[in-house]
Amino acid sequence: MIRLDKYLADMGVGTRAEVKRMIRQGKVTVDGKVEKSADRKLEAGTACVLAEGKEISYAKYEYYMLNKPAGVVSARSDRREKTVLDLIDSRKRKDLSPVGRLDKDTVGLLLITNDGALAHRLLSPKKHVDKTYYARVRGTVTEETVKQFAEGIDIGEGQEDWTMPARLLVVRQGEISEIRLTIQEGKYHQVKRMFQAAGMEVLYLKRETFGALTLDASLAEGEYRRLTDEELELLL
Ligand code: URA
Repeated sequence: MIRLDKYLADMGVGTRAEVKRMIRQGKVTVDGKVEKSADRKLEAGTACVLAEGKEISYAKYEYYMLNKPAGVVSARSDRREKTVLDLIDSRKRKDLSPVGRLDKDTVGLLLITNDGALAHRLLSPKKHVDKTYYARVRGTVTEETVKQFAEGIDIGEGQEDWTMPARLLVVRQGEISEIRLTIQEGKYHQVKRMFQAAGMEVLYLKRETFGALTLDASLAEGEYRRLTDEELELLL
């Protein structure tokens, strides 16, 4: 059960004070009757709530897959920069967050939700959730690099900081190489620092998978969609 004012505020109808005012002014109906008590308790899934004539359905959790473009930051809000949440304009909930971070210049799969328990599970280092990245790097990736990454590589600056075993697949070898790398951690700038430690530079980085999720190839950079029921089931 949820209070009427919280229901409306959660769904972005207004701030708590604004929706209280709307309710007092008789602009909100519950199951066809004007409701003037902000503390009226509702069954979120079954009550029919209208604010100024518009039906407001309640979503406790929202889950979005975003193909993050370069140039936006993985934060909830930022005073100067555009954030990944600014891109999700069909969102109802105001309490969404990106699950983990991609660098400003990294593109690809980012999960966005207000399901904190799921986010915690996916980000926990103990859970060993696979993340696969496609990258173009300056330098020739060799079997030696594959071995180094499989054994773990020190990406520390000053202090040792060893990565867990990672799977590196060489897609194209050359002065500029193309690779796929699967890691189970999320250290700061991890992929870039792994290649840097091996004497190479990441020129382009895209995340293709995150746990059970695979980036939907039909999403252009900057586009997003809700997770399907099947995807949610796999994640949960
Ligand atoms: N590793 C990086 O270096 N950057 C990212 O954005 C993600 C993984």
